[in-house]
Amino acid sequence: MVQKDGLYVVMGLLDADSIAYAIGQEIIRWGGQVVYTVQSDRLKRIFFDRSDKLTAEEKAALRIEFCDVTKEVEVRDLFERLGPICGVVHSIAFANPKTCLGEDIFTNAVDDIKNAFHISCASLATVAHYALPQMKSGGSILALTFESRKAFPFYNWMGVNKAALEALVRALARQYGRLLVRVNAISAGPLLTRAAKAIPHHAHLARTWRKLAPLPWDVLEDQTEVANAAAFLLGKLSTKITGQILYVDGGASIVGGDLLPQERPQDEDELAELVEHGGLSLSGD
Ligand SMILES: NC(=O)c1ccc[n+]([C@@H]2O[C@H](COP(=O)([O-])OP(=O)(O)OC[C@H]3O[C@@H](n4cnc5c(N)ncnc54)[C@H](O)[C@@H]3O)[C@@H](O)[C@H]2O)c1
Repeated sequence: MVQKDGLYVVMGLLDADSIAYAIGQEIIRWGGQVVYTVQSDRLKRIFFDRSDKLTAEEKAALRIEFCDVTKEVEVRDLFERLGPICGVVHSIAFANPKTCLGEDIFTNAVDDIKNAFHISCASLATVAHYALPQMKSGGSILALTFESRKAFPFYNWMGVNKAALEALVRALARQYGRLLVRVNAISAGPLLTRAAKAIPHHAHLARTWRKLAPLPWDVLEDQTEVANAAAFLLGKLSTKITGQILYVDGGASIVGGDLLPQERPQDEDELAELVEHGGLSLSGD
């Protein structure tokens, strides 16, 4: 999948629940090397070092660098320090929940809106710009997005940023194609990470997915599925794919209206029965 022994930079590690962590581990599983980036030493101490999901040995085995993507010089220095790489994952977002994710989309906290845009969208262009010289024989850049064609409650300015991020993916893909650098995004279903927990009433999104997704969607376990797709988009099996948004969301994004009760994902016993009896009736009764 990913290039064996190739170096991949996975940006946006906060703790072991971060999507970045799952993607990095998947890259390693396929034989790639990973440098994770954490926003700052302070955040590493507060979240990563205190996280009890990993043993001290597992934590020590990770190669970690620091990079705040709003500081151009930190992004530049990071990629200069690292040298040649095969790909980069931008798994980063932030919006002040008090102002940008409230009940009312209107806010006069314009600086918060700008900051959210800088971190969650524009920083991808900065990362791509400084990563580019390190991908002389081509490479892959991957961002993480969330369904932006629909409006979800409270997601407000983050939804706006995700739409902009997806437009930026296409613009970068167009500009970098001739240098054999591909730029794509994964649109993931809701996963229980710290960023997700900052969204007011985030459990609502999980409930929505239970109503919408034809495939079962697990907000804890399906990070692995996102990581699998990331390995595909970062590696050699996707060399003609660029500028795309790949939906890893259990199919929620293609469903019109709510799923009928009989279309809902089955539990394992029901599924076994359905398979045995040759499928499911859509008659509703
Ligand atoms: N969790 C979900 O349900 C979900 C679904 C779809 C897409 N996403 C996207 O996945 C990406 C990763 O989020 P996550 O869910 O793993 O949460 P997370 O909180 O683990 O990761 C978000 C990361 O962004 C980093 N970050 C914020 N500001 C930064 C800055 N100035 N410089 C550098 N890093 C900064 C944080 O430190 C953190 O590591 C985000 O783009 C998020 O929008 C998440």
